[in-house]
Amino acid sequence: MAEGVTVREGRAEDTQALTTLLAQLFAIEADFAIDPAVQTRGLRLLGTRPDAVILVAEAEGRVVGMCTVQLTASTARGGLSAGIEDVVVDQVWRGRGVGRALLVAAEAWARGRGAVRLALLADETNLPALDFYDRLGFARTRLVWLAKALD
Ligand SMILES: CC(C)(COP(=O)(O)OP(=O)(O)OC[C@H]1O[C@@H](n2cnc3c(N)ncnc32)[C@H](O)[C@@H]1OP(=O)(O)O)[C@@H](O)C(=O)NCCC(=O)NCCS
Repeated sequence: MAEGVTVREGRAEDTQALTTLLAQLFAIEADFAIDPAVQTRGLRLLGTRPDAVILVAEAEGRVVGMCTVQLTASTARGGLSAGIEDVVVDQVWRGRGVGRALLVAAEAWARGRGAVRLALLADETNLPALDFYDRLGFARTRLVWLAKALD
């Protein structure tokens, strides 16, 4: 664990700090738009789901990073897969082990619920993030993410 950094589950009072972090993330991901009201709705929804968690990294008494994890059933693996999203560390805290601490906590949360796989998506142009995931043992796949809006 990075020195002075703790990872805990998110609380309602973290919402503003988390939407600020998500704005940093969505600013570099062309597929997503920054809208604090929408992000707040998503965070609240996550908080109601039994198979999901918001993980928050805290240092010097403030929120410095986050990720979210949700379980789905996988026919390919015959078990639960844990999908990791919303991985972001505050700009001034990057490169100090916070991201690793969050993903270690995400893995522990998923293993604790019987998940047999971690999975995530990354923007193909986000080379620093791809290097980060390489370091953490994630292998690239040939899958392409497709989406269709229903609203
Ligand atoms: C990607 C991100 C979450 C990494 O978090 P971080 O706290 O900076 O990463 P850490 O300091 O924990 O680094 C963990 C490991 O990844 C490596 N790593 C991190 N950033 C890297 C980079 N830009 N290039 C190469 N390696 C990198 C580190 O060297 C480290 O390796 P080690 O522990 O084996 O020495 C963070 O940089 C970030 O928030 N980026 C902007 C948002 C983003 O792109 N999120 C991912 C969306 S898919």
